[in-house]
Amino acid sequence: MGVGIIGINRFVPERVVTNQDLEKILDTSDEWIRTRTGIEERRIADDDTNTSDMAYEAARKAIEDAGITAEELDMIIVATVTPDHPFPSVSCMIQERLGAKNAAAMDISAACAGFMYGIITGKQFIETGTYKHVLVVGVEKLSKIVDWSDRNTAVLFGDGAGAAVLGEVSEGRGILSFELGADGTGGKHLYQDEHIIMNGREVFKFAVRQMGESSVHVLEKAGLKREDVDYLIPHQANIRIMEASRERLELPVEKMSKTVDQFGNTSAASIPISIVEDIQAGKIKDDDVIVMVGFGGGLTWGAICIRWGR
Ligand code: UT7
Repeated sequence: MGVGIIGINRFVPERVVTNQDLEKILDTSDEWIRTRTGIEERRIADDDTNTSDMAYEAARKAIEDAGITAEELDMIIVATVTPDHPFPSVSCMIQERLGAKNAAAMDISAACAGFMYGIITGKQFIETGTYKHVLVVGVEKLSKIVDWSDRNTAVLFGDGAGAAVLGEVSEGRGILSFELGADGTGGKHLYQDEHIIMNGREVFKFAVRQMGESSVHVLEKAGLKREDVDYLIPHQANIRIMEASRERLELPVEKMSKTVDQFGNTSAASIPISIVEDIQAGKIKDDDVIVMVGFGGGLTWGAICIRWGR
């Protein structure tokens, strides 16, 4: 038996903020944002919608997709850097709302690589036979920590949530390999003071190098070759970074997930949101070999090679 994703869903706020909307409040242009990042619009949550609200909505639908009840969850892991409060954790808040009374609950902080960290943490508990079902949520309300007068960062981010239920899957399917890593010496390039502070060029260089290397490493660990990869789901930070990882795996354009144009960079939520969009678009099928790869503040990174299906 393998460990894999047995249910998944996402939530994004309704409010769409386009590049043209940002032109009105910042010294920027649709042309610059499109060509430098690939972003066309992003979703921004209203004041009444906090991180836990988005996490709850995504989680509720993921549990339904898994065909289990909330009481069957043994653990909830929420990856976020924008929790409602330092404590209680978002995971405890949604544990209550879901009625997941048998689940242990904790948040983890690994920025945009958070969903990768969450999945791999949850996997360990199932693999050892300790737990049967672990809910992993990647969620951010980055709009509340963005400096809306800083064009270097304000144009990049969006709000949203993605949730997955981990459980046992049939033989041959599930997580085949992974890599997690961190380099604290790079923490100074991307951090939150009051707002998000970023050295874009340094993060860009790190991301291109790390996403490429980690993708290759997980394939090697799984005993697979580039031509075995059916689909790549890179963290949706910037189309130019994503394209670099695609080229590193020598994949054609149609084999890479692209949702950055619609949602911007939703940090820990970007990979699960992309998975859901791609399933709905018929781009992900059972038994596809998928490489997911993310990087983020910390600096952190994570990659997973998975054979899709329950
Ligand atoms: O999840 C992890 C989060 N972070 C990232 O993924 C960020 C990684 N880095 C990037 O995506 C890119 O570095 C950026 C999109 C942030 C910037 O793109 P770039 O090609 O590295 O541009 P740059 O920082 O070298 O800036 C080029 C120019 C500068 O003007 P000067 O100094 O050449 O006159 C910037 O001031 O573009 C200017 N600029 C803008 N112009 C219009 C920066 N932001 C904007 C903007 N609109 N929003």
